[in-house]
Amino acid sequence: MADLLVKLYDLPPVYPLIEDLAKKNIIIRKPIGPENYAVIGWIAKHFGRGWAGEAENSFFNDPKTIYIAVRENGDGSSTMLGFGCYDATVKGFFGPTGVAEEERGQGIGKALLLACLHGLKDLGYGYGIIGSAGPVDFYKKCCGAVVIEDSAPGVYRGMLREEK
Ligand SMILES: CC(C)(COP(=O)(O)OP(=O)(O)OC[C@H]1O[C@@H](n2cnc3c(N)ncnc32)[C@H](O)[C@@H]1OP(=O)(O)O)[C@@H](O)C(=O)NCCC(=O)NCCS
Repeated sequence: MADLLVKLYDLPPVYPLIEDLAKKNIIIRKPIGPENYAVIGWIAKHFGRGWAGEAENSFFNDPKTIYIAVRENGDGSSTMLGFGCYDATVKGFFGPTGVAEEERGQGIGKALLLACLHGLKDLGYGYGIIGSAGPVDFYKKCCGAVVIEDSAPGVYRGMLREEK
């Protein structure tokens, strides 16, 4: 799968999306320290240990380069719904990202994507890269991403995989 290029100087705003989700008690925010293993464990369970390992890198950055989506349950607890990372796989890249299957189609993936892309912009990058993009049309629609020709396997060339 190819990488995609995104103009970080031409991003749509993310706050209206975050505010709309908040009306449904869905909060887009960064995790705090005690949540680290809950977040990584959730990613491993829903999307596999490869993505969990990539996401773990985002916790080594200061400030963290990961956003999560959680549902506040009203009793003081929260349920994780999705995540998005940047500057995790390699510098300047967005990903991995994922939303729980039953929670898709509500705007959570787009809000996570734009929160992360604004995060990349705030770090000083002019362009962002979406690494090995699966749903290319999602990225074209949400942030005007364009395919980088001949970019597969790109930075993932010769990548080690866990033995089964
Ligand atoms: C891709 C993913 C994160 C999208 O999350 P989501 O919460 O369902 O997306 P949203 O509801 O925010 O969708 C935003 C817009 O993109 C569209 N969209 C969503 N998924 C799409 C897809 N696969 N292809 C094209 N358009 C898509 C939606 O229809 C919506 O359009 P609208 O603004 O006109 O209503 C989610 O499907 C997912 O977790 N997939 C599995 C993991 C994955 O593939 N991650 C990406 C790896 S590169």
